[in-house]
Amino acid sequence: MYLPGSSKINSKNHLEIGGVDTIDLVTQYGTPLYVMDEWDVRNRMREYVNTFEKQQVAFQVAYASKALCTMTMCHIAKEEGLSLDVVSGGELYTALKAGFPVDRIHFHGNNKSDEEIKMAIRADIGAFVIDNHYEISLIEQIAGNENKKVKALIRVTPGIEAHTHEYIQTGQEDSKFGFNIGEMALEAAKRVNQSNQIELLGFHFHIGSQIFDMTGFEKAIERMAAFYQMVQKELKINLPILNTGGGFGIRYVDEDQPLSIRHYVTALVESVKRYFYHLGLEIPQIWIEPGRSIVGEAGTTLYTIGSNKEVPNVRKYVAVDGGMMDNPRPALYQAKYNAVIANRMESQASELVSVAGKACESGDMLIWDILLNEPQSGDVLAVFSTGAYNYSMASNYNRITRPAMVLVSNGKTDLIVKRETYDDLIQHDLVPERFIQSSYNKITNV
Ligand SMILES: Cc1ncc(COP(=O)(O)O)c(C=O)c1O
Repeated sequence: MYLPGSSKINSKNHLEIGGVDTIDLVTQYGTPLYVMDEWDVRNRMREYVNTFEKQQVAFQVAYASKALCTMTMCHIAKEEGLSLDVVSGGELYTALKAGFPVDRIHFHGNNKSDEEIKMAIRADIGAFVIDNHYEISLIEQIAGNENKKVKALIRVTPGIEAHTHEYIQTGQEDSKFGFNIGEMALEAAKRVNQSNQIELLGFHFHIGSQIFDMTGFEKAIERMAAFYQMVQKELKINLPILNTGGGFGIRYVDEDQPLSIRHYVTALVESVKRYFYHLGLEIPQIWIEPGRSIVGEAGTTLYTIGSNKEVPNVRKYVAVDGGMMDNPRPALYQAKYNAVIANRMESQASELVSVAGKACESGDMLIWDILLNEPQSGDVLAVFSTGAYNYSMASNYNRITRPAMVLVSNGKTDLIVKRETYDDLIQHDLVPERFIQSSYNKITNV
């Protein structure tokens, strides 16, 4: 059985993560519970940085905080010397509150609001990744009012279809993101280059997510090199940075065979060197934005199994105390997961079941058809690889509270996100006075 990160089976035949017994975690913090393996997160961050260092290129590894944005995650990225990619005022606010070095924050998004732009300009962030002409106008106007000049990359859509689910493909021409490579992006570059308020540093692309081979990246880099040449010729400028986005795949289930971080990075750097060198261009500084491949496999969600239902000759459903509220990915894009019974790790998983969430939606199925070790009510189900796009995409659907999150490492546990309470759920609800005064009166005129 493949166990991610520091996970292993301990002497009680329980699943242990970061030297901590997951059943003890359940006793102390309840379920559902997100468990983050600190060693695994840091290890992956270091693998990115160390591999780049060996390639002798200037680089920045920006953690794509959309995968999992909490104050503690920002602290870890800061300690490991990473940069940070944010896509909203909320992510930026979290980073600022965590004291993340502002010059290493990159601000993405296809529809940044003027408040968000103002907040980022006032904070003096490292770079905007400009998505469209409307944004150029907003930045110029706000930076002008603030008397500042900002640094920026321009997001380009390189016309590459990554081999992944269509909802997480972003590099194809028909995409809501960025300027299409060629004339459209060149026009944007001309405009930004003439701006007194914006300094153009280079271009950005991101072809999609959960990608297992380098072909798409290589094609995109080849096109980008040709585009940098076109820009050099037309605008007589050498742009110092190329951002190749994120998207490196991880293992959710056994069929997934991701490349190693070392492989992704070396192949990427080699492609940039090859295509830029070939066209006589200077090798740019390479920025990347991995999210999933840093936190995905480091996260495990613990659930308690409750009811079950046998449909004769069809399937057995076992239901857990969470679901699409804490992990919308299976409902959103048929994402697959692996899981184990964390309190009985000793025997072979031999019963074929499907794991249902507790939301009032037939589509709320966490796992279709998985072999588990005779799941019973009260057992703890550990679902692996839930560190990315789970908590960050979680909702309160059915007014179900969001789980707590703990960070485990070397036998120690830190609570890094508190479990929501029912009071949290109603804290923004307002009831007009007339309902309170007349709560027992029958309403006749609405
Ligand atoms: C622009 C951009 N950069 C980086 C990422 C991170 O991708 P991943 O988590 O697959 O590494 C995304 C994800 O959607 C993205 O849109």
